[in-house]
Amino acid sequence: MKRIGMLTSGGDCQALNAAMRGVVKTLVFNDEEVEIYGFLDGYRGLIYGDYRMLTGKDFSGILTKGGTILGTSRTPFKTIKDPDENGLNKVEAMKHNYYKLNLDCLVILGGNGTHKTANLLRQEGLNIVTLPKTIDNDLYGTDMTFGFQSAVDIATNCIDCIHTTAASHSRVFIVEVMGHKVGWLTLNAGMASGADIILIPEIPYDLKEIVAAVERRKKNSHFTIIAVAEGAISKEDAKLSKKEYAKKLKESPYPSVSYELADKIGKATGQEVRVTVPGHTQRGGSPCPYDRVFASRLGSEAANLILKGEYGFMVGYRDREIVKVPLEEVAGKLKSVSPDARIVKEAKMLGICFGDGK
Ligand code: F6P
Repeated sequence: MKRIGMLTSGGDCQALNAAMRGVVKTLVFNDEEVEIYGFLDGYRGLIYGDYRMLTGKDFSGILTKGGTILGTSRTPFKTIKDPDENGLNKVEAMKHNYYKLNLDCLVILGGNGTHKTANLLRQEGLNIVTLPKTIDNDLYGTDMTFGFQSAVDIATNCIDCIHTTAASHSRVFIVEVMGHKVGWLTLNAGMASGADIILIPEIPYDLKEIVAAVERRKKNSHFTIIAVAEGAISKEDAKLSKKEYAKKLKESPYPSVSYELADKIGKATGQEVRVTVPGHTQRGGSPCPYDRVFASRLGSEAANLILKGEYGFMVGYRDREIVKVPLEEVAGKLKSVSPDARIVKEAKMLGICFGDGK
């Protein structure tokens, strides 16, 4: 008999349910008697002992279901060691609930912040297995996270739809894709949908380069598609300290970088510029087939680790293989797009402008 705690933490994404189903199905199929304690709304549930007992049936019919049956929330790692508003020591509370329920292990599904706390709990002596989720694909230690491909599909579809109307009206269109810190989603959706300009946080842009690219397009096609990551940043702003930049953003008259760019490109080129923000639709709906298979495979491997009693790992994907990665290798690191990555060079060879003048 295994007693397993499970939680989903951080921003949701597609295939969280598929991954949990993969864990439970594999355990049950291998005749392992299991008791599943589903902690509600991420670490909050573990801190306050808010859980639901789940059976195999709860995981039936959820392969294609978006969101998470457990609910999720953000519990910032930055303040995890601070007492809550009632003076509760959150780390001790999580340990207390783990031991009180006599758990064999915790299965934690999450992204960057979630992995920092998961690693802390491992250091505190809890048995942890994690699964890599996020539409941002920025988790270190894995080539791919589940949720990413589904989000690429949605963002691509959005830009595809914009393409036809942009062409009809000879307009410049900016599509703002999710990703404050990294540009994997923007890069992939931008390339998949034939964007002319792609702006990502890792490659600061020069407005002059963007304007020049729009002017070049104007001569032949009259319309331009720009895929902009939420966290795209100009070369001047990239020189500011974190604090200075945060202040600048707070005082900016524009709701986001896309609107600032739209205003400036419009003024510089005289062209009509429109902004579309697909926002949280990128995290919503059913997982794409790739993510269903991928999350099921990761979930199944997580169950294998549990069956073998191997803890302290994230199940990841490297060089086309499902692998176990020690949590200490994952926690606290970001996987960003290198400006020198082959995919960036190839995109530039295709004529895509990144606004860096290279
Ligand atoms: O979970 C990742 C992510 O979707 C980012 O791409 C995005 O910048 C952020 O979360 C949005 O966060 P929230 O859902 O809290 O608005």
